[in-house]
Amino acid sequence: MLGNFAYCNPTKLYFGEDTLNYLNEELPKYGKNVVFIYGGGSIKKNGIYDAVVKILEENDKHVAEISGVMPNPTLAKLYEGIEIARNHHADLLLAVGGGSVCDYAKAVSVSIHCEDDPWQKYFIRFEEPDCQLVPVGCVLTMVGTGSEMNAGSVITNQDTRQKIGHVFASEDVMPRFAILNPRYTFTLPHYQMVSGIYDIFNHICEQYFSGEDDNTSDYISEGLMRSVVHSSRIAVKNPQDYEARSNLMWTATWALNTLVAKGKSTDWMVHMLGQAVGGYTNAAHGMTLSAVSLAYYRHILPYGLNRFKRFAVNVWNVSTEGKTDRQIAEEGLLAMESWMKELGVVRNITELGANEAMLEGLADVTIPMNGGYKTLNREEIIEIFRESL
Ligand code: NZQ
Ligand code: ZN
Repeated sequence: MLGNFAYCNPTKLYFGEDTLNYLNEELPKYGKNVVFIYGGGSIKKNGIYDAVVKILEENDKHVAEISGVMPNPTLAKLYEGIEIARNHHADLLLAVGGGSVCDYAKAVSVSIHCEDDPWQKYFIRFEEPDCQLVPVGCVLTMVGTGSEMNAGSVITNQDTRQKIGHVFASEDVMPRFAILNPRYTFTLPHYQMVSGIYDIFNHICEQYFSGEDDNTSDYISEGLMRSVVHSSRIAVKNPQDYEARSNLMWTATWALNTLVAKGKSTDWMVHMLGQAVGGYTNAAHGMTLSAVSLAYYRHILPYGLNRFKRFAVNVWNVSTEGKTDRQIAEEGLLAMESWMKELGVVRNITELGANEAMLEGLADVTIPMNGGYKTLNREEIIEIFRESL
């Protein structure tokens, strides 16, 4: 392990069926005023809303609601939520939903007592909060982002078409607790399930495809990737398979709770390209990643050949006999592509609503990263988007 690092993850997880009851243990730790945050209504259809309201009532909480948090939450919605939470003198923000709702709750948390404009401070200047934070708790209903156990928050500014994520350095931004009941994910539409599965896998890739040293994080990553591929194949055929869905939920959390980034520079370029597409098309997050991944990885493969070869062998069981390193590495990406087809994830940006005329604009809002095997220049970014059309 090269590099120096600190590791602390303060989020307490409750994993498994019946875990919603642990809200009864968590709620008494916070003041009376709870802001209950959720999305567009899925939790009202599947009964989670009623179950949460009942527990809030039993704990005698004074509740305000922020509803209608959309996928890829917008800055306008953030401003609205900050006002609600301020007026309610929030003691706890309870997020019940997917990554969008959890991310949104964190953005509200760092903004309630912030005197600055949150967009400028946190998403343009990437500053850390210097005000009091309101604690966040999550009940997760969609698997993929890892938002339940990290300090990331992604907000979309619709006026500028910028979708920007800030992974805060402060552990205080991480949820205090998260309730993970795999059964809650059973009502997810197929499209969202596979979008989330690809998101999990790509989070691991983003951290794995960096560095040349012998690093324990990479061995953990390979195990997680194998588990995602295995469980996804079962879940796609039978979405009601609890074992597969629970493994996916657990791998999603570990894919992006900072563990496998330890000692690594990490890449994150697929996310930068995907977020640009998201800002323009508002497409499901995981699909924006799958749409640009193949072109990106084929582009950088020569610069990270050793790692792509290792990926092919250790994740995809590609045989090495009689083949050049380049052939082995390319077979790894072919195996990944064929798994993506099995899942049914989107493999081009045209299907998400992007077109040739957007390429320059997409490049304008793509933030180049320098932790991977190749720092892309503007021409390469445009080329990758073009190859992804
Ligand atoms: O809004 P409702 O009605 O709840 O419907 C949601 C939404 O339409 C639905 N859904 C969620 N749980 C459901 C369900 N439908 C039926 N049954 C359930 N149990 O699914 C749709 C998508 O939800 P969303 O929360 O948007 O998805 P996801 O979890 O993929 O979150 C995406 C957001 O997270 C950000 C993305 O950029 C995007 O804005 N990310 C956050 C990260 C982080 N915090 O570290 C990292 C990620 O890379 C990502 O960027
Ligand atoms: Zn992601």
